[in-house]
Amino acid sequence: MSSIDIVANPYKKDFPLLDTMPDLAFLDSAATAQRPQKVLDALDSFYKTMNANPLRGLYELSLQATEGINNARKHIASFIGAGPDAACDIVFNRNTSESLNLVAKAFAPTVLEEGDEVCITIMEHHSNMIPWQQVCKERGAKLVYMYCDTNGLITEEEMQTKIGPKTKIVAAGHVSNVLGVINPIKRMGELVHANGGYLVVDGAQSIPHLAVDVRELDCDFFAFSAHKIFGPFGVGVLWGKHELLDAMPPFLTGGEMIESVSEQDAVWSPVPEKFEAGTQDAAGIFATNAALDYVESIGYEAMEAREAALMEYLAREMGKLDFIEVVGPDDPALRRGAFSFNVKGVHPHDVSGILSGENVAIRAGHHCAQPLLLFLGMHTCCRASIAFYNDTNDIDRLIEALELVGRMFNAG
Ligand code: ALA
Repeated sequence: MSSIDIVANPYKKDFPLLDTMPDLAFLDSAATAQRPQKVLDALDSFYKTMNANPLRGLYELSLQATEGINNARKHIASFIGAGPDAACDIVFNRNTSESLNLVAKAFAPTVLEEGDEVCITIMEHHSNMIPWQQVCKERGAKLVYMYCDTNGLITEEEMQTKIGPKTKIVAAGHVSNVLGVINPIKRMGELVHANGGYLVVDGAQSIPHLAVDVRELDCDFFAFSAHKIFGPFGVGVLWGKHELLDAMPPFLTGGEMIESVSEQDAVWSPVPEKFEAGTQDAAGIFATNAALDYVESIGYEAMEAREAALMEYLAREMGKLDFIEVVGPDDPALRRGAFSFNVKGVHPHDVSGILSGENVAIRAGHHCAQPLLLFLGMHTCCRASIAFYNDTNDIDRLIEALELVGRMFNAG
């Protein structure tokens, strides 16, 4: 039993939506997190006091907007362990999908040849799957899958079998948005690097739950979205090793990503601007910086300890319902954020609809992971996902609402 007090909740008051909707049990943070007041204040303050197009103007407001972006780059570089000197290796875009498309469409063609292999896991979100399908087709490369065991884990044997001399790229989610498991990213990196290949990490579901250190993981690219880590919608972050970003061509072209343009040609700006065509969401980036400040004020240690206790409680309470089929590992210690399940004989959309009537928000569907669900023998499932701002009351409300579903459908 954990000694963390998960009945008391000192965090909800920081989140205006949760604070003003005490009857809502919000258990869908894997889809998008709630935002603390500090992030909302940062957005408001940007538009009220700093609003100008960054990078373009030489007047004070525009310079401030540019400084806001540069400060965020420095902060993110330190936050993910790339170091303050790596600020120039932080690329802003719209979301993790865009970052992964950038790597698959701009970097991968520079290293992939016919007969090469790209290796991904069966639990990838579609955004870390479809771009690889596409580039493999274009280059005549083969897309190879690492499959998980019954616990949702990718074993050493599976990695050794699938990552070999032909593997040019391994692309893997750090944490699965369905199973909640942490993938052995570092080991995948060792195996692919031993063959001269590259490691791309989808960090969308890990960074809200785990302290990330890209140098410790020794990945080549790491992508995440601000909205999953209590920041605004519409800001994606890609970090890449400088020499790789520097050598590869741009993904999108247009304004602000050039050094000079002639009638027939253009010279690209250095990284990161080379990858940032068009006007950036300067307010969103400014507010992303505030989201990281907020996370640092809580600390990953406290967040992780609280989430572990919440996950243990959730798994225990779910285990008492005999009409629930758990999707993913039984051991809650193996999960971060996501707890997927089915109610026997009841479609997940019905479950989610009834829960919504009880003011319990979960996600139901294929979770943008259709190949995983088919591999697991299902088309859809329900998913409750937690953040450190949840408490036992949220979980009790989920359990009560599921008991109602069980009674309504005579499930089990
Ligand atoms: N990728 C997000 C999820 O898993 C939207 O819900």
